[in-house]
Amino acid sequence: MRFYDLIIKKRDGQELTQEEINFMIKEYCEDRIPDYQMSAMLMAIYFKGMSKGEIKYLTMAMVNSGKIIDLSSIPGIKVDKHSTGGVGDTTTLALAPMVAAAGVPVAKISGRGLGHTGGTIDKLESIKGFKTELSLNKFIDIVKKVGASIISPTSDLAPADKKLYALRDVTGTIDSIPLIVGSIMSKKLAAGADAIVLDVTTGSGAFMQEYKDALKLGKIMVDIGLELGKETVAVVSNMDEPLGFAIGNSLEVKEAIEVLKNRGPEDLRNLCLVLGAHMLKLGRAAKNYEEGRNRLEKILKDGTGFNKFKEMIAAQGGNLEIIDNPELLPLAKYSTKIKAEISGYVQKIDSRLVGESAMLLGAGREKKESEIDLSVGIILKKKVGSKVNINEDLAEVYYNDSEKLKEAKNKLFSSFVIGDKKPKKLPLILATISKKGVKEFI
Ligand code: URA
Ligand code: CA
Repeated sequence: MRFYDLIIKKRDGQELTQEEINFMIKEYCEDRIPDYQMSAMLMAIYFKGMSKGEIKYLTMAMVNSGKIIDLSSIPGIKVDKHSTGGVGDTTTLALAPMVAAAGVPVAKISGRGLGHTGGTIDKLESIKGFKTELSLNKFIDIVKKVGASIISPTSDLAPADKKLYALRDVTGTIDSIPLIVGSIMSKKLAAGADAIVLDVTTGSGAFMQEYKDALKLGKIMVDIGLELGKETVAVVSNMDEPLGFAIGNSLEVKEAIEVLKNRGPEDLRNLCLVLGAHMLKLGRAAKNYEEGRNRLEKILKDGTGFNKFKEMIAAQGGNLEIIDNPELLPLAKYSTKIKAEISGYVQKIDSRLVGESAMLLGAGREKKESEIDLSVGIILKKKVGSKVNINEDLAEVYYNDSEKLKEAKNKLFSSFVIGDKKPKKLPLILATISKKGVKEFI
């Protein structure tokens, strides 16, 4: 088999066979296909797409490029959760302990942030002492004892994705549905859970800016999950404005703690309850969505979710004093505000621009190797629909380095659109997709 012929085949819009896809992934992982040829293939896939069969074979080949984590020694149905990426999205931090408190084990492998979106592992590292690189045995032990653990990926978890993602990132081929599905689902399947809840974000800060594309992505991911033997549910959520008020690593940890203390921003809390209710249902800890949601509301009220969070933090070496006194989390030296220049209602807060502004402050990575500053970030003072008067605060910026401050503030300011009329706000949850089909809420 010559890879050149496969490039031509895909370029001309033909379907690749399972054997050809296996060849492509294996040879690429073993450095027998050069990046320039794989780049051409990725671009051909970007333009010609892939059939459902091809996506399934791609996903399987990527899973098999590494090892599948064996979680079978953990009793119960293990349910995983994944988001396609958001801004200010702190759900995993609150959700994992909430769900564990309801008796569903959560063995979660999370990533670091890249570009304008944040990553759970970076956020957790703002808790002093917290270890995100544990052996698999230790990870499984913690899930058995505590019910939840969150670690960073091991090197043999879908290594094909690491290599392909890096190439996609520099060849303009990130936002291709088949490639996204292969990337996400291979990691989820390799992570070994029994069932998967996906948060497919849409709007300005998401990969899928258009709702119809997010819905399509969600449907294919659910199909592939089901085909490969995992019960899978996807929620399409609106990421047109950042989630909650906080954007930035330690600020988001503080915000997750607020949720666990039964406070916190309405949208973030709601997303945790929705995703969590689906996780409880898949984990057979609730008969239906409503029962799951009620159970989780109780877990927030009675503090068992917060206590579970503390157990998880302690099990991974984190300093509990910080969790009880979040003001001990790293905080930037300086802060400044951006203010409204006209009165009206907030029509839009472009989450991509907010994410990019936080990245300029140092909260995110421009490149994979970039160092990040865990203490910096943004606290929004207004959300879409808020009334605002001239000179009123729109957001507060926490920073250490003034070099890019002006640029960051300008970006943040430009993310706000203020107009006369109170806008109609889209619901947070736009659709849910399961084996029963699609339920739309707009
Ligand atoms: N998240 C991933 O992990 N992979 C993608 O390709 C896109 C989003
Ligand atoms: Ca947030």
